[in-house]
Amino acid sequence: MTPFVDLAARLAAEPADAALKDVVLTIAATCARISRVVAAGALSGSLGAAGSTNVQDEEQKKLDVITNDMLSDALKACAPVAGLASEEMEEVEPTGRVSGYLVTFDPLDGSSNIDVNVSVGTIFSVLPAPVDHAPTEGDFLQPGRNQVAAGYAVYGPQTMLVLTLSGGVDGFTLDAEGQWRLTHPNLSIKADTAEFAINMSNQRHWAEPVRRYIDGCLKGKDGPRGKNFNMRWVASMVADVHRIMMRGGVFLYPWDAREPDKPGKLRLMYEANPMSLLVERAGGRSIQGAEDMLDLQPTKLHQRVPVALGSANEIEIVRAEMIAG
Ligand code: AHG
Ligand code: MN
Ligand code: MN
Repeated sequence: MTPFVDLAARLAAEPADAALKDVVLTIAATCARISRVVAAGALSGSLGAAGSTNVQDEEQKKLDVITNDMLSDALKACAPVAGLASEEMEEVEPTGRVSGYLVTFDPLDGSSNIDVNVSVGTIFSVLPAPVDHAPTEGDFLQPGRNQVAAGYAVYGPQTMLVLTLSGGVDGFTLDAEGQWRLTHPNLSIKADTAEFAINMSNQRHWAEPVRRYIDGCLKGKDGPRGKNFNMRWVASMVADVHRIMMRGGVFLYPWDAREPDKPGKLRLMYEANPMSLLVERAGGRSIQGAEDMLDLQPTKLHQRVPVALGSANEIEIVRAEMIAG
């Protein structure tokens, strides 16, 4: 007998309604199936490019398309889901049902890492659906604070699911029988850190506040921060955020001057918002510019945002740099 309770048993202790638990269990079961496809790699014929592009004009990998189809099919068959939206689908998809929940997802985060066997993941966000009509894009444009559940699966050395409903953040590990087992209850991000994650190759394109912040970290013990910093960058947001969940740190994907009209690289509705809810619930902070991410009123489905999230005290230092301008 394993001492670790399974996901359904853990959810039974949640005050959330049965319909929401059904949605979360459906996503979790699909992520368990995705993990098998990802793990099979070349054996499943799923590596490499799909030969198509998505709405962001990014080249789709076969696994982007496969995982998007798996999640879409599962959510369309899940009775409480009224609509879904994905990084890999241009438009929102109503399911033909009214009321219940809306789900947004990044079916496979970290596409650049798929073919080299580095951790990738799935990110999802659940919002309340309108009660009197089939959902349209406008119904999805709710601030992150409205999320009723959010989570991610990371397909790494262990496959893990990290999620939050109404309360704290729990981490589950996928066992050999395909069950999610509660191995990391009540995750908490330590407030102080000396570790940052950022794509340093974009340094010359950053705005002044981000340059100042990272310069301060790089100067180490003799600089303004008075301590040495370590750097980690996996280039899968899921894996970088998961590391922060486990041992603290900050993750930044700031605005940069490569494409000055785009506010950032990462997407609000299915990357930044769900990760921000998880981070805040675990005691961390998440900001865009100097403002809390979760307060941002979205204006379009595939909206991009600058992101800085992680250990609370460190993010307040980033925020102070943003305010100083
Ligand atoms: P996706 O694979 O869903 O398009 O997301 C990739 C994102 C994110 O996971 C990561 O933090 C970032 O892109 C990495 O970007 P670069 O390495 O290109 O800077
Ligand atoms: Mn992504
Ligand atoms: Mn993706």
